[in-house]
Amino acid sequence: MKPTDERSHESTDARTGRRLDGYGVLITGAGRGIGAATARRLTAEGARVLVTDRDADRAAATAETLPGARSFGCDVADRASVEAAVAYAVEHVGSLDVLVNNAHSCTPDAPLFEDEPDEDWALDLDITLTGAFRCARAALPHLVASGRGSIVMIGSVNGARDFGNHAYSAAKAGLAGLTRTLSGHAAPRGVRVNLIEPGTIHTPAWAGREAVLDRAAALYPLGRVCTPDDIASAVAFLASADASWITGVTLPVDGGILASDVGLRRAFRGAEL
Ligand SMILES: NC(=O)c1ccc[n+]([C@@H]2O[C@H](COP(=O)([O-])OP(=O)(O)OC[C@H]3O[C@@H](n4cnc5c(N)ncnc54)[C@H](O)[C@@H]3O)[C@@H](O)[C@H]2O)c1
Repeated sequence: MKPTDERSHESTDARTGRRLDGYGVLITGAGRGIGAATARRLTAEGARVLVTDRDADRAAATAETLPGARSFGCDVADRASVEAAVAYAVEHVGSLDVLVNNAHSCTPDAPLFEDEPDEDWALDLDITLTGAFRCARAALPHLVASGRGSIVMIGSVNGARDFGNHAYSAAKAGLAGLTRTLSGHAAPRGVRVNLIEPGTIHTPAWAGREAVLDRAAALYPLGRVCTPDDIASAVAFLASADASWITGVTLPVDGGILASDVGLRRAFRGAEL
C-alpha cells in the first residue's frame, strides 16, 4: 500500500487562506458555465488550471481571464484528445493534482420512450459517463504521482431521482457507480474520488428557458436555483486537503431537493402549490 503523501494532510495556508496553492488542475468542459466558474474559483485558491473544452476558442477565452491558467481543446469523446490534454497538463501546468470531470451531453427525450433513438442514448452515455472514465484513466498515474491527487466528478440530481432525460440520468447514475469503484481502487494509491450532484443551475445551458428556472426555483426547499459558484465552492472543498479523509462519497449540492419534496409538503399542509 502506498502511504498517502504527507502533503495531502496540509491544511489551508493560514497566511493566504488559499487551499490549492501550487495544485495543477485539469477541468473538462470548462469553456463556460460550471466548468468556467470552477476554473475561476480554483485559480483564486492558488491552483494553476488547464481549462479544456471541446470548443477550443471558448476554453482559450476563459483561460485568458485567469492568472496562470492555460487552455487546450479537448473532446472527452476521443481517447487521443483526452490523452493529449493530460500530457499537456503535465508538461505545461507542471503537475496534475486534480481532475474535474465536468463535460456532459444531455439530449432531449423523445416524446415517447419507444421512439428513443440509439444514437441519442449512445451520445449521452459516451460523453457524460465514458468521457469521465477516459479522463480518469489517462489522469490516474499522474494523480498517484502527485501524492495529493483527487478526482471530482460533476454528476446531477438526475442520477439519484427522476427529473426526466433517460440517457443523461442513466449516465449520471453511472458516475456514482464509477466514483465508488474507482475510489476503492485508487485509495490505496493515495488518490481520492468524489462526486457532486448539483440541482438546477443557472448556466448558459438554460439560455432562453429562464421561465422554467423561475418555476423550478419555487420547488427547491432553499427557494432558489443553484449558481455555478455554489458548485465551484464544493469542488474547491473536495479537491483540497480540507477533504483529505473524504473519498467515494456523493455530495448533493441541490438546495435540499433530494431530501425534501416542497410540492408534497405544501399539498399535505393544504397550502397553495
Ligand atoms: N446546468 C444545470 O442545470 C446542471 C444541473 C445538474 C448538473 N449539471 C452538470 O454540470 C456540468 C456542467 O454543466 P453546465 O450547465 O455548466 O454546461 P454548459 O452547457 O453551460 O457547458 C458545458 C461545456 O462543455 C463543453 N462540452 C460539451 N461536450 C463536450 C465534450 N465532448 N468534450 C469536452 N467538452 C464538451 C461545451 O462546449 C460547454 O462549453 C455538467 O456535467 C452537467 O451535467 C448541470
